[in-house]
Amino acid sequence: MKLSFQEVVKRFGDHTVIDRISLELDGVHCLALIGPSGGGKSTLLRIVAGLEYPTSGVVALNGREIEYHDEALLRHRRSIGTVFQAFNLFPHLTALRNITLPLEKVHGKSGDEARELAEGTLRRFQLLAHAHKRPAELSGGQRQRVAIARAIAIKPQVILLDEPTSALDPEMTAEVLELIEELKREGRDLLLVTHEMGFARRLADRVALLAEGRIAELGPAEQIFGAPESEVTKGFLRRVLKY
Ligand SMILES: Nc1ncnc2c1ncn2[C@@H]1O[C@H](COP(=O)(O)OP(=O)(O)OP(=O)(O)O)[C@@H](O)[C@H]1O
Ligand SMILES: [Mg+2]
Repeated sequence: MKLSFQEVVKRFGDHTVIDRISLELDGVHCLALIGPSGGGKSTLLRIVAGLEYPTSGVVALNGREIEYHDEALLRHRRSIGTVFQAFNLFPHLTALRNITLPLEKVHGKSGDEARELAEGTLRRFQLLAHAHKRPAELSGGQRQRVAIARAIAIKPQVILLDEPTSALDPEMTAEVLELIEELKREGRDLLLVTHEMGFARRLADRVALLAEGRIAELGPAEQIFGAPESEVTKGFLRRVLKY
């Protein structure tokens, strides 16, 4: 994927959360965003997802500038897959319906098409046996895999994931990480916010460390984890890798 930020600023009131971020990436298949809590990772991801407007600046994904007005954003959101950390399934709907509903309402598929796409995706992730369960009847790992299945049912080229494993225990985390790795293997481009440093190192071809709304360091995973240059990166990694 190509991703470009030019002088992007996001303020909430007088709180600057993204502070003039500029970057140009090309040919990247997995960009991992890491960094301390409150640093702006989710906000940056939401801006790329078209769920949050930048206060100023220009963002382009795969050569196309994201236009931050309703009609264009709707098209943009339809073209990407988005997975957030927890509670993102409709609790009163079955796994299957959680997937078919947006396919019908957002993507304009017929009931039959939606069902076929949803069942195909659930089958692929060994979730078909759970198709008729509601989220409360699924394990945390299954729930998150259904959320990922929903995001990729339309086969988006770019998938945005915000801490997809943060609410999971280690075994379920492994299940979900395997699934994400498989998406990368099949050629999808990922923009991933994660606290799983080992996973970021293994999967990402670029890693950006975001702190206080700025990119403290951006480079290949080997550089960030193996030979970080910025003091902010060094301090952050020392803290998170301590335990
Ligand atoms: N809708 C909002 N209104 C006001 N402030 C917000 C809003 N969303 C985020 N913020 C603030 O922006 C800052 C960055 O938040 P963000 O969620 O992007 O951080 P993060 O890096 O994802 O943190 P974490 O690792 O804890 O998820 C925080 O100080 C947060 O309080
Ligand atoms: Mg966050």
